[in-house]
Amino acid sequence: MTPLLELDAVTQAYPLPRDRLFGPRRSLTVLDGVDFAVGEGEAVGLVGESGAGKTTMTRAMLGMETPRGGAVRFDGRDLREMGPDERRAFRRAVQVVMQNPRSSLDPRMSVGRSLLEPLRALGVAEDHAARVREVIGQVGLTESALARYPHEFSGGQLQRIAIARALAPRPRVLIADEPVSALDVSIQAQVLNLLKDLVDELGLSMVLIAHDLAVVAYSTSRVSVIAGGRIVEQGAPRDLFVHPEAEATRNLVDAVLTMEDGLAGRGLAAGAAATPPVTSHQARRGR
Ligand SMILES: Nc1ncnc2c1ncn2[C@@H]1O[C@H](COP(=O)(O)OP(=O)(O)O)[C@@H](O)[C@H]1O
Ligand SMILES: [Mg+2]
Repeated sequence: MTPLLELDAVTQAYPLPRDRLFGPRRSLTVLDGVDFAVGEGEAVGLVGESGAGKTTMTRAMLGMETPRGGAVRFDGRDLREMGPDERRAFRRAVQVVMQNPRSSLDPRMSVGRSLLEPLRALGVAEDHAARVREVIGQVGLTESALARYPHEFSGGQLQRIAIARALAPRPRVLIADEPVSALDVSIQAQVLNLLKDLVDELGLSMVLIAHDLAVVAYSTSRVSVIAGGRIVEQGAPRDLFVHPEAEATRNLVDAVLTMEDGLAGRGLAAGAAATPPVTSHQARRGR
C-alpha cells in the first residue's frame, strides 16, 4: 500500500543560542531519522512523552516547516516538488486539531466565522454556509453555536468546534495532536469517541497523537512510539501493551497501569472509558 502521508528519514534541528559571540553555531536535533506513515483510511497512533518531538512531526506533516533532512510525501509526491496548485490541494487535504482549542480558535471571531474562514482561504468550491451548518451538526452541536463566541463554550465544546473546522474542507487526513490533553478527564472519552466515529464514517485517515498510550490504543490499529526524536518501537496497540520492548514503551505502559490502579482504587475505573480494559488487564497478568 502506498502511504497517503509519509515522513521518510526526517531529521529536524533547531539552532541553539551561541555560548559566546563568536562561538560555534550549535543546534538541537529534535527529530532524528523519523519514518512514519499513514495509509488511506487508516488510523495510526503516535505516542511519546512531552518533548519527544510529536508536535515537530505534526508541523512537518502539515508542511509548516521544512525538515533539515529526509522527505515528506503526500500521495507519493515530495512536498518540496509541489507547484502552487498542488500545494493548495495538499493544504486542504491535511487538516489538524491542536491540543488547546482556546488558543487555536480566535476569541474575537464568532464560531461561524472561524469555520467559514478556512473554506474561503482554501478556495473550497461549495456553498460555505451550508457546509458550516453540516459540520457543526456532525460534531454534535446545534446551529445556534455559530453565532456565539469561544468564551461561551466549555473546553470539550471548543474541541468539537475545532474538529468541525478541520473537517469542513473535506480533508483526506486528520492529524489530532494531543486533542484531549487539555480537557477534563470526564469528557476525554466523548471527544475520542467522536473523532473515531467521524473518521470511520467519513473514511478518513487519522494520525492520533498523545502522551498516553491508552488514548491512542482505543482507536488506532498501529502505534509508533517516539522518544528523544527517534521512533523506538512500532506495533499493534495490543502487542505494545503485552510485550513492550523499548524502555520508552514500557514506561508508557506502566503509566497507563498506574493510572488505572489509581482510578480503580478511587472507585472510578468505569469512568476510564478511553482505556482498553481487556488489553491492559492481559498485560498486567503477564507481568
Ligand atoms: N521552534 C523551536 N525552536 C527550538 N526548539 C524547539 C522548537 N520547537 C520545538 N522545540 C524543541 O523540540 C523538542 C520537541 O518538541 P515538540 O515537538 O513540541 O515535542 P512534543 O510535542 O512531543 O511534546 C523540545 O525539546 C522543544 O523544546
Ligand atoms: Mg506536542
